[in-house]
Amino acid sequence: MLAVVPPPITVRVPSKVNLHLGVGDLRDDGYHDLSTVFQALSLTDDVTVAVAEDPGVEVHGEGADSVPATQDNLAWRAVRALAEHAGLDADDLKVRVVINKGIPVAGGMAGGSADAAAALVAAAALWRLDIGREELTAVAATIGSDVPFVLHGGTALGTGRGERLVPVLTRHTFHWVLAFDRGGLSTPAVYGELDRLRAEGDPPRLGAVEPLLEALASGDPRRLGGLLGNDLQAASVSLRPALRRTLRAGVEAGALAGIVSGSGPTTAFLCEDADAALRVAAELSGAGVCRTVRVAHGPVPGAKVVSDDTAPRPTTPPD
Ligand code: C5P
Repeated sequence: MLAVVPPPITVRVPSKVNLHLGVGDLRDDGYHDLSTVFQALSLTDDVTVAVAEDPGVEVHGEGADSVPATQDNLAWRAVRALAEHAGLDADDLKVRVVINKGIPVAGGMAGGSADAAAALVAAAALWRLDIGREELTAVAATIGSDVPFVLHGGTALGTGRGERLVPVLTRHTFHWVLAFDRGGLSTPAVYGELDRLRAEGDPPRLGAVEPLLEALASGDPRRLGGLLGNDLQAASVSLRPALRRTLRAGVEAGALAGIVSGSGPTTAFLCEDADAALRVAAELSGAGVCRTVRVAHGPVPGAKVVSDDTAPRPTTPPD
């Protein structure tokens, strides 16, 4: 009899920017209640999950050196969580997870969460699990607050820790320039810094999210630009004061508005259209305020299988 090995599955997964990130007070469980609008961006990671005799994780590409290629990797934890959920032996996973990074590491763009979401979709396909999106979302939420959003993609309003999602109507493709910083920032450290700043004097908090939702529905990037906001920005800038200069440089280069992406230190600049984004990117990369500049657009779909070779392959050729 022929042993049949399912072919590797590759999943492409987006990054995210928070167009509005309203942070509530610290909860007893160590998280903060959020009111946030996520948008999935075309800056992506690819994650391949394959049956393998030498299980483990490999990381290549943007910032790969600083991503753990161990069982602490969020993608590996996601595969384990899915195996447990499906009643498989999570301590004996015969799979290899290969991550190709385009999303900056520890950059505030949900790069680690994206790899976890992609690994979930890939492993579910590899193991041919009969699991719906809602069930997969529940597993995703156990891995991290941003994992459900990058699984779904598009534009969505997030509440709770950010894991409770409602899709948001948008009428336009928005064009972004992203400035990668020279280092990363730890998400818990940035939330901790916000708690500290608030204990000292309560910096102004973002207002209601509704005007931003209306701007998204109108599709007008100028209107949207005036409403972008992030309560974590004061904390990221406090930890990385040079970000102030980067934010200024992006607007001086012609962007409609600039914000810190999530907990940072990546900064995101909304532009009028695709041409404007290219011009802003060129000028910003010459300004010497960041490590790398990329253009991206959004909204884009969530984690999706991109390898179309889904037929099982025999391990030995048939007679
Ligand atoms: O959910 P995730 O593991 O990505 O969160 C990382 C850390 O970010 C949490 O341990 C917490 O310190 C902080 N966080 C928070 N409130 C949220 C999401 C994250 O305080 N809503």
